[in-house]
Amino acid sequence: MKPLKIIFSASECHPFAKSGGLADVVGTLPRYLKAAGHDVRIVMPRYASVDTTDFKPIGGPLGVPMGIIGEQWCGVLEGKLPGSEVPVYLIEHEVYFGWRDLYNDEEGVGYMDNDNRFVFLSRATMQLCKMLDFAPDILHSHDWHTAATALFLNTIYADDPHFKNCASVLTLHNMQHQGRFYNGLMNVLDVGWEHFNFREIEQFDQVNLLKAGITHATMLSTVSPTYAQELMTPEFGCELDSTLRTRAHDLVGILNGVDTDEWNPARDTLIAAHFSAKDLSGKAVCKKALQKEMNLPVRDVPVIGIISRLVNQKGFDVVAEAIGDLLQMDIQMVLLGSGEPWTHFFFGDIAALYPQKFACRIGYDHALSHRIEAGSDFFLMSSRFEPCGLNQMYSQIYGTLPIVHGVGGLEDTVSNYDESRGTGDGFKFYGLTAHNLINTVGWAVHTWYNHPEHLKKMRIQAMEKEFTWTRSAEAYVELYRTALHRRGV
Ligand code: ADP
Ligand code: GLC
Repeated sequence: MKPLKIIFSASECHPFAKSGGLADVVGTLPRYLKAAGHDVRIVMPRYASVDTTDFKPIGGPLGVPMGIIGEQWCGVLEGKLPGSEVPVYLIEHEVYFGWRDLYNDEEGVGYMDNDNRFVFLSRATMQLCKMLDFAPDILHSHDWHTAATALFLNTIYADDPHFKNCASVLTLHNMQHQGRFYNGLMNVLDVGWEHFNFREIEQFDQVNLLKAGITHATMLSTVSPTYAQELMTPEFGCELDSTLRTRAHDLVGILNGVDTDEWNPARDTLIAAHFSAKDLSGKAVCKKALQKEMNLPVRDVPVIGIISRLVNQKGFDVVAEAIGDLLQMDIQMVLLGSGEPWTHFFFGDIAALYPQKFACRIGYDHALSHRIEAGSDFFLMSSRFEPCGLNQMYSQIYGTLPIVHGVGGLEDTVSNYDESRGTGDGFKFYGLTAHNLINTVGWAVHTWYNHPEHLKKMRIQAMEKEFTWTRSAEAYVELYRTALHRRGV
């Protein structure tokens, strides 16, 4: 079959700009599509924090019509995803993207012009395809930030011969963020007010960019089979469940994979010692090194790691409620994260109160995240909802058993401990309450102390799991072909 021309449009991409797992996916999936022979390219903003050493400017300035704001001009820098031949285009516009942080100011408040910033990125994606003379088969957008590309394809560019054979795919990584803005944004989108209706863009009299993408994309995907079902329910659909139900036949759940070049305990250059399922001795070295680094007593106790955005989605209010009881157990906890200001104070205070048991690093630290995965015995994810989740998979690869709330991708990737046989690759609970969390951590800790033979077996079972992107990339190609078919191409 003929190779496809695919354009990825996204607000983040590892290693250039990252706030969470979206960046991991956008920075990895294209490598696998490229390896399968497809011509895939990535468009993203050039935030001030992006290292552009290996990029060079191309073309003249790119004109991007922004409706009532008028045409905006931007620079385009071209580079590659490191270690690959995947082209990456950075959209350079000082006013929109001249900030270091992706979405928020220093106080954690979203930038005032996030609406225009990402409508601009979406429209720039369309214009760039034309400037490069790259006629894509597939326009693949991610989350609300670039969902408007699907709307543009069906409206402004509907009769443009450049996009004649193009279908669109929108991947939903997170329904909680939808890009809901004042309806005046219609004048910037410039697709015509007739599209401001409940079936397309309008919700509660506002523009909802994610909704626009959901209604206009040729096909939809999300990042795990369970979340694909969940998001069509009122509990998880964040008020778009009914819209999604109308597209149930066009929605698939494809589990994210892991970039095993980056996450591999046998080769990881960021950890104290290497280890593998065949020889776990290096993991003990990593554990001691982690305890030392985090100023915890170097003792043989279960260490529970947490690496996360500290936001409502991840259930830290429940961890906060449970923490007093958790720290009654003979354990140590290591937390790395940043997010809602209350969490910084709260967990900072807990670390000051329990210096022997609880260590906390507020901030973003890529290298430390590897050392926590390698040095912990368990990894806690109390997510209220989790479209896929990557850290539970990274944990398993590092022989660190996840303790998780069984929702979304956590349900799909963690199989529960069976104490009669000593099998499983993690510990799961259902119902996000402090009581259930404490009980399940207690269960894991009890197993650590009383059934070390089960723990070892589980670690090996976890480490031997396959999380390759190859299979998921194949599923995406199948989705692209379905989209083209639906489009009659
Ligand atoms: P989400 O995208 O919802 O945040 P995922 O589990 O899919 O959740 O991905 C989170 C990614 O971000 C992982 O690669 C994780 O290691 C990383 N991460 C989150 N917070 C931090 C942090 N404070 N420091 C380093 N890495 C972090
Ligand atoms: C989102 C989700 C997370 C998922 C990631 C990558 O940020 O919260 O569960 O793993 O996107 O798809």
